[in-house]
Amino acid sequence: MRFDVITLFPDMFSAIKDEGVVARGIKKSLLSIHTWQLRDFSDNKYRNVDDKPYGGGAGMVMQVKPIRSCIEKIKQKVPNTQVVYLSPQGRKLTHQLATELSKFESLTLLCGRYEGVDERIIEHDVDMEVSIGDYVISGGELAAMVLIDSVSRQIPAVLGNQDSLNDSFANGLLDYPHYTRPEVIDNQQVPEVLLSGHQANIDQWRAQQVLKNTQLKRQDLASK
Ligand SMILES: C[S@@+](CC[C@H](N)C(=O)[O-])C[C@H]1O[C@@H](n2cnc3c(N)ncnc32)[C@H](O)[C@@H]1O
Repeated sequence: MRFDVITLFPDMFSAIKDEGVVARGIKKSLLSIHTWQLRDFSDNKYRNVDDKPYGGGAGMVMQVKPIRSCIEKIKQKVPNTQVVYLSPQGRKLTHQLATELSKFESLTLLCGRYEGVDERIIEHDVDMEVSIGDYVISGGELAAMVLIDSVSRQIPAVLGNQDSLNDSFANGLLDYPHYTRPEVIDNQQVPEVLLSGHQANIDQWRAQQVLKNTQLKRQDLASK
């Protein structure tokens, strides 16, 4: 799967390109991330890509022309790419949406800054707006990285033997608790059943814990 990212801060993406699950997916040629410096598409010598808002008010707005030129350039390489604008006003990123997005071969992620992008980009150039939650952060880059990571995890070969099928939300419920060595630490004991070697009992215990955990921490999911 290919991600093209339009951003004023391409270096931020080294956080996922160089470390962890996404980086491993890139090494295995299952994923690729291409960052595009929006300022390269500016038509002025100061490399500006933003201007004052019509109607007045605080903050700057990202202009149509550089963004549109950049999207056109990306579409010359990947004509069928889906253009996603990271925005607090978008559809909420959930497990379900990450799974849907993982079916595309290519996503172009537009990262806003300042007050966001000129509305005409959303009307004409963007296929979908996606939000990582009901709060505002300072730029779309962190949101884009969250999206790339969560979508990449839905591609089975990316995780390899680290199975995501039992992850929280995969079945609409939370994950069961996990333990590792040692068996006892500071008087805290690993549940006996996990040491029993009896797989059917372990599976049954885990299934119970999934329900208990969800009931305890996320009533809203448990009552669905
Ligand atoms: C300061 S925000 C602009 C917020 C905008 N004025 C509003 O209130 O809807 C700058 C950029 O950060 C990104 N952003 C902020 N919050 C986000 C969220 N919850 N999910 C995804 N992207 C977000 C968007 O790309 C946005 O254009």
